Amino acid sequence: MCGIIGILGRTPVAPLLVDALKRLEYRGYDSAGIATLEDGHLDRLRAEGKLRNLDLKLAGSPRFGLAGIGHTRWATHGAPTERNAHPHATERLAVVHNGIIENFRELRLEMEAAGRTFSSDTDTEVIAHLVTVNLAAGMAPRDAVQAVLGRLTGAFSLAFLFEGEGDLLIGARRGSPLAIGWGDGEMFLGSDAIALGPFTDEITYLNDGDWVVLTRSSAEIYDEAGNPVSRPLTQLHGTTHVVDKGNHRHFMVKEVHEQPEVVGHTVAHYLDLVNGSAKVPAGIDFAAIDRLSITACGTAFYAGFVAKYWFERYARLPVDIDIASEFRYREQPLSKDGLSIVISQSGETADTLASLRYAKGEGQKIAAIVNVRESTIAREADFVLPTLAGPEIGVASTKAFTAQLSVLAATAVAAGKARGVLSGDEEHALVRALSEVPRLMHEALKLEDQIEALARDLAKVKHCLYLGRGTSYPIALEGALKLKEISYIHAEGYAAGELKHGPIALIDEDMPVVVIAPFDHIFEKTVSNMQEVAARGGRIILITDRKGAEAAAMDTMATIILPEMPASVTALVYTIPVQLLAYHTAVFMGTDVDQPRNLAKSVTVE
Ligand code: F6R
Repeated sequence: MCGIIGILGRTPVAPLLVDALKRLEYRGYDSAGIATLEDGHLDRLRAEGKLRNLDLKLAGSPRFGLAGIGHTRWATHGAPTERNAHPHATERLAVVHNGIIENFRELRLEMEAAGRTFSSDTDTEVIAHLVTVNLAAGMAPRDAVQAVLGRLTGAFSLAFLFEGEGDLLIGARRGSPLAIGWGDGEMFLGSDAIALGPFTDEITYLNDGDWVVLTRSSAEIYDEAGNPVSRPLTQLHGTTHVVDKGNHRHFMVKEVHEQPEVVGHTVAHYLDLVNGSAKVPAGIDFAAIDRLSITACGTAFYAGFVAKYWFERYARLPVDIDIASEFRYREQPLSKDGLSIVISQSGETADTLASLRYAKGEGQKIAAIVNVRESTIAREADFVLPTLAGPEIGVASTKAFTAQLSVLAATAVAAGKARGVLSGDEEHALVRALSEVPRLMHEALKLEDQIEALARDLAKVKHCLYLGRGTSYPIALEGALKLKEISYIHAEGYAAGELKHGPIALIDEDMPVVVIAPFDHIFEKTVSNMQEVAARGGRIILITDRKGAEAAAMDTMATIILPEMPASVTALVYTIPVQLLAYHTAVFMGTDVDQPRNLAKSVTVE
């Protein structure tokens, strides 16, 4: 994830900006840059590669301005070059950005038609031009920014610095985090509290949709509708922490809310968003592979299970999906022309590691999807496909799961292309759908209040069923796992069509049934299963979209309505309500959400 820092200081800010960026190195980056105001004029310094390159440039040509913004960039739109590094600037302002602007192509065409010249391939630069046009029309900076925020589609955070405005920074967040740091006659902006650690202990986390106008003595915060709002001040304890809970009660819910950012970051790494194509992972020849075997445990296994549907459908590649503890002892013959994919957040899970070694012993090449890049599984694999989720602290896996799905989805599209199954148009459509997931997740997170109210009722039950078809089936399994592991309520996930083959005997008014059913080509089949439940007095919690809710036309305990989206990405977005339902139910139950009983984050024993 990119890192953002902004400072209105009392001493030259350039070295402070670089120091703060160093604290954000853990997020990963491939270029960096700062913009400062030198005698009121915008001045930029950017460098490809590591921060020491920027440091060297700064040492050779020190800057003395008292206001500035800085950025570490992980390339999304455009190659990791100095030209594409942030800040992006015009004659009137400089801007740094984290996230994806989905509608940048349309906006860029509009700006080019208006005579603006672009100097990068990024989606970010269009923001700089849009605000500049508004400023040139006579708008004040805050109005110019507010008007542009309303035109941007996507999930992002931003920080602006303006020519001639030595006491002004504007920040905004939608989907990606941003925090204000309060100093003594100084003011700071940062993409997380870690960047702000050396400067202040007093932090205000912006809520989603907020934007802020900062001077050295004030912070005026507005919500998405433009109403002035106040947000609480949080006192940080110690500045050396690496990961904090932000203004969330638990790490788990913080990590749930990080998903628009994490998924945006991960899909951007595996896709070429400028050309609308998927990048084939180096070294893997999907055209030469006749079978995939995917192995993992727990939540990571369910990510692989979703991927089976994707690889089979989009790449016509047969997939065997196995629980690692079974796979490793089953003595399955493996084809030398097959590829093994192992999935593990920690990269240390004993059974998954043993499966990797078994497949290797059978002569297969191994691709590992891991969150911890230094892990044993990463080291022993032939190809490492990292999930860019950042450290996951909550024992229940959330953001690592959707990051795994992001890697798998992008890789399935790349395989479809490499195998000649997907046309260029189909590839573009799938890539576009993936680039929209951060915004769709951001929309889904807005349903949290409704889900929390529902969780109050769910916390009273002893058992719960989850049903889904297609890629919603593994999401049903994941939903049931999340609920049982953190709330200790007994839950089971089933393929909706299996209900009548046994589990239907369990249905009564004390057994809520969570049905995950986007309005897709198999929706009607799932409606039949819901009717079977309703006819037996079962209470349904339906997670669907507007069309699904209308077509189902049933009495439910609750209907959670998500935005409509392509079927290829529902698994990613429908995970959010399922996670939130488990989380809030557990909070009502009073369990230890981040460290549920009997569980460990990394299972290194058999
Ligand atoms: C559930 C959960 C576990 C892990 C499983 C595999 O929320 O976190 O089911 O997914 O133990 O762990 P990794 O991914 O580290 O191999």
